[in-house]
Amino acid sequence: MQKDLVIVANRLPVDRVTQPDGTPGWRRSPGGLVSAIEPVMRANDGIWLGWPGGDDQDLEPFEDDGMHLAPIGLEKDEIELFYEGFSNATLWPIYHDLVAKPEFHREWWDSYVKVNEKFAAKAASFAAEGATVWVHDYQLQLVPRMLRELRPDLRIGFYLHIPFPPAELFQQLPWRRQILEGLLGADLVGFQLPGGAQNFVRLVRQRVGHKTHRDLVYLPDGRAVRAAAFPISIDARGYEELAQKDSVVERAAAIREALGNPRKIFLGIDRLDYTKGIYARLRAFAELISDGRFDVEDAVFVQVAVPSREQVEQYRILRDDIERLVGRINGDLGRIGRPAISYLHTSYPREEMAALYTAADVMVVTPYRDGMNLVAKEFVACRTEDDGALVLSEFAGAADELRQAWLVNPYDLNGMKSALLEAYNADDKELSRRMKAMRKTIRQHDVAAWADSFMSELGQFSHSTHAKAVRPAKRS
Ligand code: F6P
Repeated sequence: MQKDLVIVANRLPVDRVTQPDGTPGWRRSPGGLVSAIEPVMRANDGIWLGWPGGDDQDLEPFEDDGMHLAPIGLEKDEIELFYEGFSNATLWPIYHDLVAKPEFHREWWDSYVKVNEKFAAKAASFAAEGATVWVHDYQLQLVPRMLRELRPDLRIGFYLHIPFPPAELFQQLPWRRQILEGLLGADLVGFQLPGGAQNFVRLVRQRVGHKTHRDLVYLPDGRAVRAAAFPISIDARGYEELAQKDSVVERAAAIREALGNPRKIFLGIDRLDYTKGIYARLRAFAELISDGRFDVEDAVFVQVAVPSREQVEQYRILRDDIERLVGRINGDLGRIGRPAISYLHTSYPREEMAALYTAADVMVVTPYRDGMNLVAKEFVACRTEDDGALVLSEFAGAADELRQAWLVNPYDLNGMKSALLEAYNADDKELSRRMKAMRKTIRQHDVAAWADSFMSELGQFSHSTHAKAVRPAKRS
């Protein structure tokens, strides 16, 4: 089966799981990438290549909910070295401002190269002559170059869903040059924000020695590569419609009822990740109660923590820390039937998420660093009555667009407390003014607009050549 559009991402949109009765089944994968690419796939007759989770090796391509999916198996040691190791314990912290300490291990890197080769070979085999291959995210940064070597006929795009770090951090990577060269195999390299694209071009100039001009890189082989920002988004109308469904409206009322109909519900929904700032935000909320700003009868914080990367040590430590904190806060501040924090370690389907967004009064999204954060956008899309408040970290990509949120520095606990309190006390007029403006932004820049702009740019820019005289790249 060969296709004109091939999506290559570390994960498929569904994960292989063992069901309670022992039979294998599929469950939706966590994370923003899947939410963003799914509508693109549905609008095109393409194929999506990715890891289905687990270490099954021989899964055949299949169709799920109208999408063609081709699983790429990872061996046990690849899961440990490539996925948990290099992707999530080396690259992830470096690309997120060193919120945690990255580890550098040569055998992790070797596995990263091997797995990227495996993905490139699979992509080459599923791509029709002259097809477009769209490679996603930090786990697969070597694929564009490997794929170009295998299939020079292809149009290759790459999109990074997480931030691209400043040169000062990126250059700590012992394999910095190989990663930059890997990305330069694409015709178009997309980032969430202009700052990421600028960091990349600057690094290419400094570390690889290629000539650059604004967002263009001129390669010695005559190719030109463009690096630009394409802020990702959501299916805004889809969420709006979902939030208006009777079943969702009823479920939202039931959630409020189950929580004891407090005056205000605060809500956090995050993958359980140390970049998300869950610990600090729960502390800020608890301090407002102990300061007497409001009471557990008035307000509750619902924190959904979606299980993530549970084999990586830093994620296990984080889970323990957060769960200990929740226990302490509830023990100190809660009353019978009135916990201060309602904590759920689980993931929910879209309908339940929409009901939670609708039930909440204050959505709290306070990552230390985040490529975009689609949860913030989903919340806004679901507020069809133009009500509800969004407290948003300045360090989430979404803050560039959602300027009417209560923007906070997640490292500043007092600042966060003030913003939470202002959002809690805001009157309807203020809420509506802010939410209207944010909803307009989200509707205009939805995921279809994001995909269209990337694809049309890729269409115009692929196989671009230049006639500049450039010296061969220097070693670094
Ligand atoms: O958006 C960042 C991202 O790492 C995606 O690449 C990924 O699919 C998602 O978050 C969830 O992470 P993981 O695939 O490691 O569970």
